[in-house]
Amino acid sequence: MIKKIGVLTSGGDAPGMNAAIRAVVRTAIQKGIEVYGIHDGYLGMYEGRIERLYRKSVSERLGLGGTFLGTARLKDFAKKEVRQIAIDNLAIYGIDAVVTIGGDGTYRGALALSEMGIHTVGVPGTIDNDISGTDFTIGFDTALNTVVEAVDKLRDTSSSHRRCSIIEVMGRNCGDIAVWTAIAVGAEFVVSKETGFDLQAIIDNVTQAAKAKNHAIIIVAENMVDVNWLAKEVSEKTPFDARATILGHIQRGGRPTAKDRVLASEMGYKAVEALLNDETGVCVCQRNNQIITMPINDALGDDTPPVLEKYKVFKVLW
Ligand code: F6P
Repeated sequence: MIKKIGVLTSGGDAPGMNAAIRAVVRTAIQKGIEVYGIHDGYLGMYEGRIERLYRKSVSERLGLGGTFLGTARLKDFAKKEVRQIAIDNLAIYGIDAVVTIGGDGTYRGALALSEMGIHTVGVPGTIDNDISGTDFTIGFDTALNTVVEAVDKLRDTSSSHRRCSIIEVMGRNCGDIAVWTAIAVGAEFVVSKETGFDLQAIIDNVTQAAKAKNHAIIIVAENMVDVNWLAKEVSEKTPFDARATILGHIQRGGRPTAKDRVLASEMGYKAVEALLNDETGVCVCQRNNQIITMPINDALGDDTPPVLEKYKVFKVLW
């Protein structure tokens, strides 16, 4: 029977992580389990930076962006000897189970820990929405709203100057932020790994838009194309002068939306329940509005089909 659990956040921070930590802490305490916060993800586990958390430790945190436990990316956690040191540190506190909140790198770490005997449950916390088992990851909704608000602002200046705005958004290798934004703002074009890059199609769409309206918007997922180069091409080959904007880390900040707070709370609660049911090497997902668990291995696959379904809608509506 599990008596002490750890909780950590790892990888890129995401709005709603604090709400998830709070839910883990409050659920565990309700069920008579001690909770320990591990600072800066697996790095803090390796360095032994661990502290007991109480009900009050998570007061007033629910609506705050970022993660109060801190986060990091530790490549060396792939090494068994590094994980063994981390596990020895958990043993000092008597921690036999850990809730890990983060993206795919965090999940890989959780799986590896579970294979070494530590019970782990992953909670999807990343703005990228790139975990395949779940309809949504914690932070995606907030980031999407941040991006849409920014693009709405760019549209004001763009249309005043009869320009094309080219906006690069985050997502690592996943086009969810890009495609959802493109639908939400009525963009002229969206470029992502799943939907591809086609310069001539962009030129055609922008040229067509210039006949009917005073601006055009192109959303580009990061790691696809140099947006400043693309702005030059569009300026030279269409009636619109183009400007590129890279939104960057602003997309990861801010207070979580109500939707992310609720998702994080439900998922944090479910993670503790799963540990108490003796589950390990699993992650929490939201599917068809149900919060369930599934093996982490199944969540590390390809998330392409849902993006392409959304892209179909975009192509009809632009
Ligand atoms: O995974 C979240 C994310 O924001 C990605 O969208 C992006 O590619 C990456 O993290 C940026 O990482 P860093 O903050 O280390 O630059």
